[in-house]
Amino acid sequence: MIEEPVLILVATVGGTATYVADEMADKLRAKGIKPFVVQMEKAALKMFETRKLFIICASTQGTGDLPDNAQPFFDALQGERPDLTGVRFGTVALGDMTYSASFCGGGRQFDEIFAELGATRIVERLEHDRVAGGYPEEAALEWLDGWLDAAAGNRVSNA
Ligand SMILES: Cc1cc2nc3c(=O)[nH]c(=O)nc-3n(C[C@H](O)[C@H](O)[C@H](O)COP(=O)(O)O)c2cc1C
Repeated sequence: MIEEPVLILVATVGGTATYVADEMADKLRAKGIKPFVVQMEKAALKMFETRKLFIICASTQGTGDLPDNAQPFFDALQGERPDLTGVRFGTVALGDMTYSASFCGGGRQFDEIFAELGATRIVERLEHDRVAGGYPEEAALEWLDGWLDAAAGNRVSNA
């Protein structure tokens, strides 16, 4: 059982990532877990002092770029390089395979910097392609099962 709250950090342009994050939050609540959905423009490094369990839910804009609402938080991670040892996380990356070389670049950047700063990636990143069909929230909810297992320590991850 997961006793601590889960922070879902949202990087979005058009709101799809927010919708996906809200759906994941509903599922967590149904399991008796307390989620906080936090838009990235409100995220601060201070939160790592008290929160250790994270889901990054991020779309991509431009050519593999972060959504604007996520850039300051990303810059803070990159500039201040907090030690994220003890933080456990997973990433839901939303993208469009039409942008082949930069597919899911926004989510990938967060996934990589969290790991680089010492956080433990408990499951592999989900990369959802909007043109391949399939609803992103459905893919995310299925992915969340694996994240929950790993977070509860039920499964050793190779991620
Ligand atoms: C102008 C624009 C640029 C995009 N660039 C990329 C990209 O480089 N790579 C990618 O995988 N997806 C790209 N996408 C697709 C979005 O990331 C995808 O549609 C996502 O679901 C949008 O989520 P959001 O509504 O939360 O922002 C782009 C979409 C738009 C409108």
